[in-house]
Amino acid sequence: MTILVTGGAGYIGSHVCVRLLEAAHDVLILDNFSNCRRDVVDRIAAIAGRMPRLRDVDVRSRDGLAQALDGEKLEGVIHLAGLKAVADSVRAPLAYFHSNVTGTINVRDAVGACPFVFSSSATVYGAPAQCPVTEQTITQPTNPYGFTKLAGEQMLRFASMADGGSPLTILRYFNPAGAHGSGLIGDDPLGVPQNLMPMIERVAVGDSRELVIHGIDYPTRDGTAVRDYIHVEDLADAHIRALELQSSADPVQTFNLGSERGHTVLEVVNAFERATGNAVPWRAGPRRDGDVAELWAHGNAARSVLGWKPTRSLAQICQDSLRWRRHWSDHLQLVAA
Ligand code: NAD
Ligand code: UD1
Repeated sequence: MTILVTGGAGYIGSHVCVRLLEAAHDVLILDNFSNCRRDVVDRIAAIAGRMPRLRDVDVRSRDGLAQALDGEKLEGVIHLAGLKAVADSVRAPLAYFHSNVTGTINVRDAVGACPFVFSSSATVYGAPAQCPVTEQTITQPTNPYGFTKLAGEQMLRFASMADGGSPLTILRYFNPAGAHGSGLIGDDPLGVPQNLMPMIERVAVGDSRELVIHGIDYPTRDGTAVRDYIHVEDLADAHIRALELQSSADPVQTFNLGSERGHTVLEVVNAFERATGNAVPWRAGPRRDGDVAELWAHGNAARSVLGWKPTRSLAQICQDSLRWRRHWSDHLQLVAA
């Protein structure tokens, strides 16, 4: 029996695959490698001591999915494949709907009533009137990416109800950050990173000159936006808990996955400098399209129902990020030499 992980070669997916392999699951990764390097699969295997299986498939292709899954007996599905950059989604909304909505429909069609874990996002809450947000806070995305996640969630809920209640866990991630403690895998998008921590890492090791802070005039304690950062290894653990907990008695569940603490961008920069001793020069830039001032989680449901809470601090997120970036920069220089 196999756990299917779409987008399993990406940032969060690679950490989830490590945990699944360590828990003795057979793992099948589907990925089109549009935002990751192929050798990540070898690095997953180096950490876990076992190789995941891999198919190069685009989830927008129904035929590709059918071929890749022909004859597979799936025990569960973790669906992470998709596009995730808020500002890109404002520029190219149709690409986001194709990848994230059509892709999710195709995956759900291909696997049928199999237990399903869906990577959703805190961005479904938009700009909430009040933080922290609970799972009951009204969803009102402010950008196309958020709408694609909300559409995916709702479509999957209807599909689960229609087939009599197949297990579905919707995980609304807040801000995953950090890297695996081995330094072998981390946030490694192709092209210029758009998320905060991979950008800070690059500035800290001198691969980029400075961090541009997108907006210093938000109505927050220091003018920069507030987010809720969770260590990617804690996040990976939550997926294993979600699979373990799924049952037909309470088939559809939704959890916020955050740390229950909000940090401004400047606080993250300062925490990074303190935790690592590396300077992060920055300058102020304009606000980014689609961004909100403040978003952080109430994690009561994750604690009491899922039995999960993050255990790693912001300082550890920063230290693991830097370890990974140093390791990886050295590796890339060796390969280039
Ligand atoms: P990522 O880009 O590192 O990983 C996504 C993976 O999916 C990549 O390996 C990419 O190659 C693959 N992929 C993209 N489009 C595909 C397609 N059409 N067919 C097959 N594979 C495809 O991103 P991530 O940070 O690991 O995010 C994983 C999931 O978590 C995404 O669905 C994202 O929306 C969601 N999420 C991420 C964050 C975050 O801050 N990183 C926050 C909330 C939710
Ligand atoms: C967003 C979404 C999240 C989504 C994730 C995937 C919101 C509220 N959150 O996270 O749900 O799944 O993207 O990528 O929409 N920043 C800088 N300079 C940089 C990079 C970022 O100042 O170079 C700032 C951003 O403006 C933001 C904070 O850092 O205020 C965090 O940004 P980022 O890491 O991109 O995550 P979100 O935008 O919060």
